[in-house]
Amino acid sequence: MTEQPGSVRFGVLGCADIAWRRTLPAMRTVPAVEIRAVASRELRKAERFTAQFGGVAVRGYAELLRRDDVDAVYIPLPAALHAEWVERALLAGKHVLAEKPLTMRSRETGRLIALAGRRGKVLLENMMFVHHPQHRRIDELVSAGTIGELRSFVSAFTIPPRPPADARYRPGVGGGALADIGVYPVRAALRFAGPRLRVVGAALRVDRARRVVVGGGMLLSDPDGVTAQLAFGMEHSYDSRYELRGAAGRLTLPRAFTPPPDHHPVVRVDGRDGHTEIVLAPADQFARIIAFFASAVRSGEAAVARDVATQTGDSLRQAELVDDIRDKAEYAYVS
Ligand SMILES: NC(=O)c1ccc[n+]([C@@H]2O[C@H](COP(=O)([O-])OP(=O)(O)OC[C@H]3O[C@@H](n4cnc5c(N)ncnc54)[C@H](OP(=O)(O)O)[C@@H]3O)[C@@H](O)[C@H]2O)c1
Repeated sequence: MTEQPGSVRFGVLGCADIAWRRTLPAMRTVPAVEIRAVASRELRKAERFTAQFGGVAVRGYAELLRRDDVDAVYIPLPAALHAEWVERALLAGKHVLAEKPLTMRSRETGRLIALAGRRGKVLLENMMFVHHPQHRRIDELVSAGTIGELRSFVSAFTIPPRPPADARYRPGVGGGALADIGVYPVRAALRFAGPRLRVVGAALRVDRARRVVVGGGMLLSDPDGVTAQLAFGMEHSYDSRYELRGAAGRLTLPRAFTPPPDHHPVVRVDGRDGHTEIVLAPADQFARIIAFFASAVRSGEAAVARDVATQTGDSLRQAELVDDIRDKAEYAYVS
């Protein structure tokens, strides 16, 4: 990657809710980036965004990709549209920060990671929770022997139903709850229980009328029988947590995937002598992943490039596991 001076000039493809609520407010706090343009299928939507966050309003995503004053694009489109626009952005010479999941299939994810490599562009999945320092504290506690040898990883990410028009209910657009929500516990399992995890089985609930996955659970295991029990869905009460169960105790982290920037994480440690709670400093994981992406675009340092490669490797492995979950699952059709 060649070193370039100045801040990273971002274009945004799509006036998404997540962009309005989290990503663009965070982008404005990162000195190394600038919001240069926002594109929408409807110009007035883009204008509402640029009035709030700055930059030029553009009608149409292709029009934005033609701009020479944009170095990188942020893609918060519904999941099933990511592959097309990630590819078009890379071919237009842009670096890409794309919302999770990168694509709907591991083959596509692998192909686009390879394309980014050939073009010398940074491609990063916006799996922002990985960038919150709370997880490193969990690593330290595990390394210190706080819970003994890891036996299992348990995690859930569940949300209440979305409004009926939400893209997640359209299989060819939002792609359903496994693609949109299930990827979080899968990625966390990879992070803590390791890359040797394989899918043992899964059960997926499909909304009969909409033909889309709305929830489910899966069991993964590594060759030593260390397991990951995962649940996800969009027909639940809100939950976002994981637990590491060891031979001598447990570590539990609520609000694991979506802590707001001012949230003080609380790690619960259960051991033989009772339990304690460790309160951590807040962090803005959106600002952190944007700063990381910008440093990958600008620095050209080998260590940063290695970090990107590790994360895209994890994105690919996550996508392979999700493919495998779909293939091995028992499907229940619910009304
Ligand atoms: N990282 C995170 O924490 C996080 C959190 C929530 C969501 N996400 C991800 O972010 C992405 C967007 O989620 P969201 O809830 O923000 O979605 P959303 O509000 O529905 O926004 C998606 C945007 O995509 C554009 N779009 C283009 N074609 C579309 C179509 N056929 N149907 C609907 N929208 C279309 C629209 O922008 P225009 O009309 O302006 O063109 C729309 O505003 C998803 O991939 C989701 O998984 C990430």
